Amino acid sequence: MVVKIKSKGKGLCLVTGGSGFVGYHIVRRLLDEGYSVRVIDNLSRNCNNILDLEKEGKVEFIHGDIRYDDTVRKVMKDVDYIFHEAAICINRSKEFPKEAIDVNLVGSFNIFQAAIDFGVKKVVFASTSSVYGQPEYLPVDEKHPLNPQTPYESAKLCAEHMLKFLAKKHNIKYNILRYFNVYGKKQSTDAYYTSVINTFIKRVLAGEPPVINGKGDQSMDFTHVSDVVEVNMRALESDISGEVFNVAKGEETTIAEVANIILKHCNSKLKPTFIEREVLVTRRRADTSKIKKMLNYEPKVSFTEGIKEVIKDIKENPQDY
Ligand SMILES: NC(=O)c1ccc[n+]([C@@H]2O[C@H](COP(=O)([O-])OP(=O)(O)OC[C@H]3O[C@@H](n4cnc5c(N)ncnc54)[C@H](O)[C@@H]3O)[C@@H](O)[C@H]2O)c1
Repeated sequence: MVVKIKSKGKGLCLVTGGSGFVGYHIVRRLLDEGYSVRVIDNLSRNCNNILDLEKEGKVEFIHGDIRYDDTVRKVMKDVDYIFHEAAICINRSKEFPKEAIDVNLVGSFNIFQAAIDFGVKKVVFASTSSVYGQPEYLPVDEKHPLNPQTPYESAKLCAEHMLKFLAKKHNIKYNILRYFNVYGKKQSTDAYYTSVINTFIKRVLAGEPPVINGKGDQSMDFTHVSDVVEVNMRALESDISGEVFNVAKGEETTIAEVANIILKHCNSKLKPTFIEREVLVTRRRADTSKIKKMLNYEPKVSFTEGIKEVIKDIKENPQDY
């Protein structure tokens, strides 16, 4: 492994998981903003996103795994800032709990410790709203009790604590972002909870009905990826450090509503079908006042606007999904 890119422009950013859905959008934005970008990803979930940018010479791509400390230390050379997105998802963590600990906790620790040892100026860590578990009240603010339900969430929460501990000890700047349900272009459709929108759109465009788990009354707070990227940029570029932020639209939409909005905008007369399945969290709606107050940001993309954009992209680029 040869690390080539040096810090230039606004600085060198390392994006872990930069071939993934959110990571890729962060990479694009960083390039537009004049940062140089290095990505580490083991391509366990997505591979096409980043390879095109690498071929065009726009990013330095390291095919590597954050579980291995020596790999992580090699990619840290000259890095100014880190967006830590690499993780395994909820469903995989339920099947392979140890992998969740290895990637989402030990891998995160490797990134944080190397950031300290290599003098990185700031770390932005992608955590998850799932650390709250089933809401005890709505909207869920950052002080809501923490009640992780799966190895994915337990490892993410532990990684949050680890980052706070290391930052206090070594005085490194960081912010933690708890994403609610992110959606948008280029999201792969292999995980029900995180990609329900794209999964439904793909099915409807193929002439198949959306399949709803349970009654469809479970809700999520859907957040367009461009809003998530904007919060990442503000979490990095502002003077604010050491904070935990909810990243969400602050609106509740049920899965049945999602299906109906998609059917309408795909001009489909199909009706959703319902199947019995365990629903982990029945409702989600974030209190977003902290990002508004401290990062001066109010999410912008309306749900309908976001859905229409994804429908258009899946029609035009079906090979990406
Ligand atoms: N998408 C959402 O709705 C959502 C919600 C809450 C939190 N998050 C968090 O945001 C981050 C980004 O999510 P996403 O939707 O883009 O996920 P994603 O699965 O699309 O991207 C994650 C990337 O990490 C890579 N990766 C996994 N294990 C790795 C390892 N051991 N070493 C190196 N790379 C590895 C994968 O190949 C993938 O490209 C994740 O940390 C996720 O937990 C996402």
